[in-house]
Amino acid sequence: FAARQASKSVFGAVQRRTFSATASNATKVAVLGAAGGIGQPLSLLLKLNPRVTELALYDIKGAPGVAADISHINTKSTVKGYEPSGAGIKECLTGAEIVLIPAGVPRKPGMTRDDLFNTNASIVRDLAKAAADACPEANILVIANPVNSTVPITAEVFKSKGVYNPKRLFGVTTLDVVRASRFISQLKSTDPATENITVVGGHSGATIVPLLSQAGYTLEGAERDEYIKRVQFGGDEVVQAKGGAGSATLSMAMAGARFAESLLKAAQGQSGVVEPTYVDSPLYKDQGVTYFASQVELGPNGVEKIHPVGEMSEFEQGLLEVCLKDLKSNIEKGEKWVKENM
Ligand code: NAD
Ligand code: LMR
Repeated sequence: FAARQASKSVFGAVQRRTFSATASNATKVAVLGAAGGIGQPLSLLLKLNPRVTELALYDIKGAPGVAADISHINTKSTVKGYEPSGAGIKECLTGAEIVLIPAGVPRKPGMTRDDLFNTNASIVRDLAKAAADACPEANILVIANPVNSTVPITAEVFKSKGVYNPKRLFGVTTLDVVRASRFISQLKSTDPATENITVVGGHSGATIVPLLSQAGYTLEGAERDEYIKRVQFGGDEVVQAKGGAGSATLSMAMAGARFAESLLKAAQGQSGVVEPTYVDSPLYKDQGVTYFASQVELGPNGVEKIHPVGEMSEFEQGLLEVCLKDLKSNIEKGEKWVKENM
């Protein structure tokens, strides 16, 4: 009967595909901070993703309203909103395969991401505790800043509960790749959709290291410096333009949805899915840098393979050295704080 039903896709094209979610590809995705600037468009994009069968939206306020709104979209997934009262976060997280965490305060002009540490560290710690209890095997995607520190905080919480799996924890740095790709396409008049600039390191200022040489580009002088600055401080461009009303939300929602889609594709058996992401990484552990973003192949178990950084120009090597120094202190700050404030 279902096979004979023709329905319109969200974009209007007639679809005859039956909905074939089986136990193996029924996928519950939870968004924590779902009523926020990122959370709302991210939830919308996840509702449009046919790989998602159940969408669980949590926020300290407003998630049931967002869920009611999104639930009217004519795709098959179910949507439910959760608040701290009632079923709460435990029910939201139970059974989740992917948990995205955009909960936390955004920057205002003049602030660094590290200035968010005092507020966001405890938000992420508490949400990580809830996830470690309710869905210890889920893929945890940390968006809340400062990512360089909130990922180590999450790892320490999972370790404290004896459920840490380094293959399942990701700092979402996709927006840096999106920006690096878009900005080079503007300079070179290419199709941005076909650009895929590798960005390694972390997610703030000098820790963001685009490797243009790997895409065959060489920029020189002021053009190179402006490009690097734009990629490293693209977030500031948006913070300033929004004039106190927050930071990137729409481009971040797209980037978060892209990363979730890559994980889902890999979980559902597609091979060769590679995304730069900030993970527990062996690449620079000998220098005390225990988390690092590089190209990571994703698979059904999360991290399948962490690729080495690869060939770099001398200039890029210099950027990487500065990155490693900053990253080490961001990581140590997160680990020290969470051990003292568990
Ligand atoms: P926002 O203020 O618009 O939304 C944050 C939401 O989190 C709010 O709805 C708030 O109620 C909710 N929240 C706060 N504490 C919570 C808790 N304990 N549990 C559940 N929900 C809680 O902010 P935003 O613009 O959506 O940004 C969110 C975070 O994402 C910020 O820290 C920002 O810096 C970061 N960010 C990261 C990237 C990245 O590339 N990784 C990009 C953009 C923004
Ligand atoms: C970004 O890169 O846009 C985010 O990290 C938000 C910010 O504070 O810049």
